[in-house]
Amino acid sequence: MDLASVDHALTTTRSVRRRLDFARPVERRLIEECLAIAVQAPTGSNSQGWHFVVVTDAAKREAIAALYRRHFEAYANRPPEEQPQYAADDPRAAQQARVRRSAIYLAENMHRCPVFVIPCIDGRPEGLPAAAQAGYWGSILPAAWSLMVALRARGLGTAWTTIHLASERETAAILGIHANVTQAALLPVAHFQGSDFKPAQRLPLEAVVHWESW
Ligand SMILES: Cc1cc2nc3c(=O)[nH]c(=O)nc-3n(C[C@H](O)[C@H](O)[C@H](O)COP(=O)(O)O)c2cc1C
Repeated sequence: MDLASVDHALTTTRSVRRRLDFARPVERRLIEECLAIAVQAPTGSNSQGWHFVVVTDAAKREAIAALYRRHFEAYANRPPEEQPQYAADDPRAAQQARVRRSAIYLAENMHRCPVFVIPCIDGRPEGLPAAAQAGYWGSILPAAWSLMVALRARGLGTAWTTIHLASERETAAILGIHANVTQAALLPVAHFQGSDFKPAQRLPLEAVVHWESW
């Protein structure tokens, strides 16, 4: 295995928003290749209850993006006391304004993205105890992340988004998704502009890794 390439892909699969190339079509073959990789992810009890709804139809993308925009506006304009406050030396403080600008750009332009992928899973999580939720979400989220990494390796960018889920039922109606299926995210996909991405600055490992005990 080429360790350097694997590490590079895993450390540079960024949320791509402002560098999405809306004008360049995305070949169906590329999406299919990446989905074939995604379904190699782990799946609780080998259930493989995942589904991926791929949307290229312009009217459907516009309708879903409008739902996203509506909820994004409420989220972006929530009162300051509901927004995270970071200490000045926390890397997230310096990143906050940039992430916000980038997220606003995506909300305003999402409909222009040529492909949406909505990873879904059989069943509903409502009322499941925490341990069962871990197995439930853990059986779709790794596949969605593998999809993002596979896309990135082929010059395609996306951003993990969840804001449209506030209108999950309306989205299900647009796409004919069964009532007993749960949407986990919405990945707007396009070729990215430029050639590479950098690793992000994260919290130091000492702050998040606990050897032997917390
Ligand atoms: C569970 C989850 C939900 C997210 N929801 C959204 C979203 O709705 N809209 C958006 O623009 N980004 C969303 N993001 C992307 C984060 O903002 C992003 O991962 C974070 O700012 C770090 O940036 P990076 O992915 O480039 O490292 C989400 C990420 C995760 C993991």
